[in-house]
Formats: sequence, C-alpha cells, structure tokens
Amino acid sequence: MKALAVPLIAFLTSVAALVAGLCHQTRLEPVGAPIPEDRAAYRSTCAQCHPPFSPRVYLKTQWRKVVEEMLARADHRGIEIDQETLELVIGYLEENGR
Ligand code: HEC
Repeated sequence: MKALAVPLIAFLTSVAALVAGLCHQTRLEPVGAPIPEDRAAYRSTCAQCHPPFSPRVYLKTQWRKVVEEMLARADHRGIEIDQETLELVIGYLEENGR
C-alpha cells in the first residue's frame, strides 16, 4: 500500500493542476453577462464579410494595419464604418492581441 501512495498523490496532484489549468484557460464568463461595448463593436464591424477572427491571431502592434487593409475592402463594397466605432474596434484588438 505504501508503495502506491507516492504515485497516487502525484497522479491526483496532476489531475488537479490540469483541471485548474483548463478552468483558467477558458475563462468562463457568467451566462447572460452583458457584452462589453468594444467587443460588440468589433463583432458587428468585422464580422460582416467573414466570421470574427480571434484578436490573438495578430500582435497588438499589428492590428491597426490589418484593420486599415480591411477598411479598404469595406470601402470597395460600400460598407461605411464611422470613426468612433473604428476606434473602439482598434482599441479592442490592441488590448486583446498577443
Ligand atoms: C468588406 C468585407 C470585409 C470586412 C468588413 C472585413 N474583412 Fe477581414 N477579410 C475580408 C476578406 C475578403 C478576407 C480574405 C482575404 C485575405 O485573406 O486576404 C479577410 C481576411 C481577414 C483576416 C485574415 C487574413 C489576414 O490578412 O490575416 C483577418 C485577420 C481579418 N480579415 C480581420 C478583419 C477585421 C479586424 C475587420 C474589421 C476591422 C475585418 N476583417 C473586416 C473582408 C472583410
């Protein structure tokens, strides 16, 4: 029995660490929590032509340029995005980028 104690404790500790890690990573938000204004602006602005990309696909410093490229595309298609919404979107991406 004694021989099993050490591996058993090691196993249980690693399971606990794994569960804690998973909970931390998904960062669950309460169901029904209001969507912050900047994230809502991002979704409505940047998901008109494709599903919204995760802010983590680019570095914080790269987002402004990517948004500018997307704006040229939006312009071609006659989609207008006002300056105030745009600043919210860029702020959201820069805050949540890698
Ligand atoms: C007018 C339509 C349109 C809008 C609006 C639009 N996109 Fe795009 N987006 C595209 C198209 C088309 C592609 C695919 C072409 C490509 O990969 O270069 C794309 C690709 C992307 C990609 C992946 C390709 C890459 O360059 O990394 C990202 C990231 C992206 N869009 C972000 C955004 C963001 C952020 C916004 C909001 C500011 C946005 N898009 C708004 C049309 C749009």
